[in-house]
Amino acid sequence: MDIISIIGPNQLKGSVKISGAKNAVLPLMTACIIHPGNYKINNVPMLKDTLTMCKLLEMVGAKVKIINDSVLIDTKNCNSPLAPYELVKTMRASFYVLGPFMARFGEAQVSLPGGCAWGPRPVDFHIKALEKMGAQINLDGGYINAKGKLKGADITFAKSSVGATGNVLMAAINAKGTTRIFNSAKEPEIDCLIEFLNLMGGNIIRDKNQDIIIKGVLDLKDNIEIDVIPDRIEAGTFMIAAAITKGNITLTNVNPNHLEIVIDKLRACGCVIEISNNTLNIKMFKKPISNDMVTDIYPGFPTDLQAQWMALMCLAKGVSKVIDNIYIDRFTHVAELIRLGAKIKLEKNIAKVSGVDYLSAAEVMSTDIRASASLVLSGLIAKGNTKISRVYHIDRGYERIEEKFKKLNADINRLK
Ligand code: UD1
Repeated sequence: MDIISIIGPNQLKGSVKISGAKNAVLPLMTACIIHPGNYKINNVPMLKDTLTMCKLLEMVGAKVKIINDSVLIDTKNCNSPLAPYELVKTMRASFYVLGPFMARFGEAQVSLPGGCAWGPRPVDFHIKALEKMGAQINLDGGYINAKGKLKGADITFAKSSVGATGNVLMAAINAKGTTRIFNSAKEPEIDCLIEFLNLMGGNIIRDKNQDIIIKGVLDLKDNIEIDVIPDRIEAGTFMIAAAITKGNITLTNVNPNHLEIVIDKLRACGCVIEISNNTLNIKMFKKPISNDMVTDIYPGFPTDLQAQWMALMCLAKGVSKVIDNIYIDRFTHVAELIRLGAKIKLEKNIAKVSGVDYLSAAEVMSTDIRASASLVLSGLIAKGNTKISRVYHIDRGYERIEEKFKKLNADINRLK
């Protein structure tokens, strides 16, 4: 198994191109199932998760071709609305086939995703919403079996959920009548999906209350092309990396509007950030100032940057609280950061972080995508040789991470 080896401390400098967003491309790929035809998705990050999604589409009967950073998907011969456990257990986003299967076939057999490294991640909102739209659903052998011709309905989520909003959007595109989603997810990745579904001929709007209204449409189109939005989580990770290493880096292919809270928080820590169109320069000259952080739904601070933020707070001046309200068990990185010399006390979903003067290299282990990123950032600044094992987690969400950091002057290598 590959290991990432970093010799620190490093100071990052230079420029890095941010890839397309993982959390946007995966639902776009499943959306191609809805209507038989040809689709082209550009600015696709070549990640393990993207390749897993290609495999899943092929199992459903699609033809998939990758050309540079584009994925071409032909869904004319899709005939099998089944997502097996082997794939769903490795990538929860496989669950995004549920809505498209219902829209295309009126039936679906999708494995329940189960928990993940940091605890249970339920799908009850997805199921209840489809039932409200007329699907008959039973759970059997770890699978959801759904059947029925869907009709529009009013769906109110108890919590704003990215996954459930995505699935309902796709299921409702050609359902009879109007579907309204209240307390819908406002994440940019959902707006990217809405854009794609509307290009397919869908009739979807967000009203002034941010609720989503989907008027079911029968004559959908294919031959659609779309560019995936830039990955705000990858961008945020590189920004925090610049802050932690007192670096000076420029990010290209970013959408600064999607990063407002991250920019504000980093400025409050002492970073100097300049923005122009889709480019962002970030410099840090001093030890960061401690700053409490609470994860929240968009436009709040993303749970996917919580671990990286904690790495920064480990070296900040003062004491801070890092609170995850989206996933209250998402703290597997704490034990590993402590191995590097961090001072963190965890009580329920609140980590109290006391800044230290330096971190010392150690052997540490990745537990999930973003936890691994926090270890890479810590390894960049820790004194000595940090070795991170189980890096397959990081490959799920970051494209060639060690190459990008190497280009920014880091002493980082992948050992096979
Ligand atoms: C979440 C993040 C997303 C991130 C992803 C992967 C938020 C709002 N969402 O998306 O940005 O990319 O993790 O790290 O930050 N819930 C239920 N029942 C359901 C679905 C969700 O109770 O059927 C709850 C979840 O437990 C959670 C909240 O709703 O507390 C938000 O869930 P959701 O947005 O669906 O999570 P993901 O799609 O996994």
